[in-house]
Amino acid sequence: MTFPKGFYWGASTAAYQIEGAWKEDGKGESIWDRFAHTPGKIKTGETADVACDSYHRWREDIALASAMNLNSYRFSISWPRIQPVGSGAANAKGLDFYRSMVDALLEAHIRPLVTLYHWDLPQTLEDAGGWPQRDTAARFVDFAQIVGRALGDRVSDWILFNEPSVFAYQGYLEGSHAPGRTSLLDFLRATHVINLAQGEGFRALKAIRADARVGTAFNMSACEPASNSEDDKLAAERAHAITNVWFIEPALHGRYPNAFTFFPESMMRIKAGDMEKTRAALDFIGINLYYRTIAAATGSFERLTHLQNWLFPVKMTGGLQGPKTDFGWEVWPKSLYDMVMRITRDYNRPVIEITENGCSYGDGPDANGAIRDARRIEYHRGYLSALAQAINDGADVRGYHAWSLMDNFEWVEGFSQRFGLAYTDFKTQQRTLKDSGKWYGTVAAENRVE
Ligand code: FCB
Repeated sequence: MTFPKGFYWGASTAAYQIEGAWKEDGKGESIWDRFAHTPGKIKTGETADVACDSYHRWREDIALASAMNLNSYRFSISWPRIQPVGSGAANAKGLDFYRSMVDALLEAHIRPLVTLYHWDLPQTLEDAGGWPQRDTAARFVDFAQIVGRALGDRVSDWILFNEPSVFAYQGYLEGSHAPGRTSLLDFLRATHVINLAQGEGFRALKAIRADARVGTAFNMSACEPASNSEDDKLAAERAHAITNVWFIEPALHGRYPNAFTFFPESMMRIKAGDMEKTRAALDFIGINLYYRTIAAATGSFERLTHLQNWLFPVKMTGGLQGPKTDFGWEVWPKSLYDMVMRITRDYNRPVIEITENGCSYGDGPDANGAIRDARRIEYHRGYLSALAQAINDGADVRGYHAWSLMDNFEWVEGFSQRFGLAYTDFKTQQRTLKDSGKWYGTVAAENRVE
């Protein structure tokens, strides 16, 4: 199956997961620095203080991308490296770091696809209220302007947010991610402030460079009803609304989708005129997809016992039919096809980029130093075939980014989950292409998957 001419073959990373150098050259503390340093938060007790040491070894990272014939590299900017306390003047050393990296990428004929926010909010802004606090949207716009002005002459493709619903949900409702809050109100308010920031951030970048292409990387999961009952079908639509389009509808249509039993407008602190501010004609829809979701309606007892279950009467679980990765996520390539086709149908064939897709398998070097990760090859082959099918059926998909370029710090899982196309030896920091990385290099060079 051949991909369209000029297709972007890429890999993704995020600042906190790879950079290390957590307090070097003027960098401020982020909520992930604080969270990982709090005992009990990271399952393995590890932090990303050093991670892959990419702050010093980024040339090796670019060499890996080149070795795999990639023409796109998605990475993120650490906000506290640019604005140590989340506001005020830019830290020149932080900007220089990203400028050098972008220049080296361009020299290697690799498109820089730059994520502005991949979860590392400056801790000072969290102390002032974090994402539930309206002013954080203005701070984000300020940050976007600083970065846009510094890199906009050489970067054309931008991602405003990585997975808004994940950092809002896990950070403010479930509490499993930084900053670790557990409040339904904070979660709802955070989602609205992020939507405002997305709209205003979009306009800020466009004002700096009119031909910039600006999107967001949305976490998506094809939501299937657990049964054919009307209740489960409604539950699947609610799951789709909150998981997949809660941050797309406000941008493209100036409204929130129907996820809840009633619309919590006042709880969310939506003000008159806000839904105009959230609007942004995103140039592309970024899709991060790992697994599908099975949705079932909750029983009436569950609804009565908890405000949250009453507001959102849906039980979401992963699928159980396919094999599992080491993370426990089901391998189900068809979910990528289903998701891409639904977005294509519902939003009038928008430009789509797959901004993340990948799998965790612990395979390490054998006696000869080779990393024989056949299951990862099968994973990417399966999802790429599903993607090729979607393109064939009319979807306008311009690129695919494997998560991840190399093994890195997997948030609360620490270094225990390896998603890389390259193996990272965290003791020596040596990176070695896995069999999957070599295979992916051939796919990228030939622009097709067997
Ligand atoms: C996504 C994140 C990314 C990575 C993968 C495994 O949700 O965006 O940083 O951790 O999961």
